Amino acid sequence: MRKFMAALIGCCVLLPTLAQAGPNDEIKYRKAMIGGMARNAMSIGSIMKGDLDHKTELKGLGEALAISARLSKDAFRVNTAGKGSERTTVKGDLIWKQWPDFSKRMDKLALDANAVALATSKNDMAATGDALKTVFSNCKGCHETYRDEK
Ligand code: HEC
Repeated sequence: MRKFMAALIGCCVLLPTLAQAGPNDEIKYRKAMIGGMARNAMSIGSIMKGDLDHKTELKGLGEALAISARLSKDAFRVNTAGKGSERTTVKGDLIWKQWPDFSKRMDKLALDANAVALATSKNDMAATGDALKTVFSNCKGCHETYRDEK
């Protein structure tokens, strides 16, 4: 716990005073954001699929998914193509060259995530399953176009 607190203080309180954010910070931020969004979706999927005894958490997870999906677009706003040493899988500068298309895909993800939040808020399992499927239909298409995973 003490180690964790030290890491937390080091990460979140001290660092910002040391240097201005650069491309590596941008890349880390957007990976954390999209990864968090993905994990929220996966947590809901696990509960649904495994019939886990975590159904009371679905409403909170639905909200978390909706919020993280809504915030994901802006996490990609800054063009880092060719900059920084942090590992990234974005395909060149395609996202920023085709921002209107990328932006539209992210807006759809956010809308679909809202549908999950609505379904979980009503405790409607069938609707949650359907809405989650729709959320996952966004991932592959965007990754195929905008990611370069080697
Ligand atoms: C509109 C485009 C788009 C959508 C929709 C999208 N992603 Fe991504 N995702 C990306 C891009 C681009 C990256 C690469 C980020 C980087 O490496 O800097 C990424 C990275 C990731 C990563 C890796 C994060 C890391 O730590 O490196 C995961 C996991 C992920 N996405 C999961 C998902 C899942 C699951 C969904 C659907 C629920 C999804 N993504 C929807 C564009 C998208």
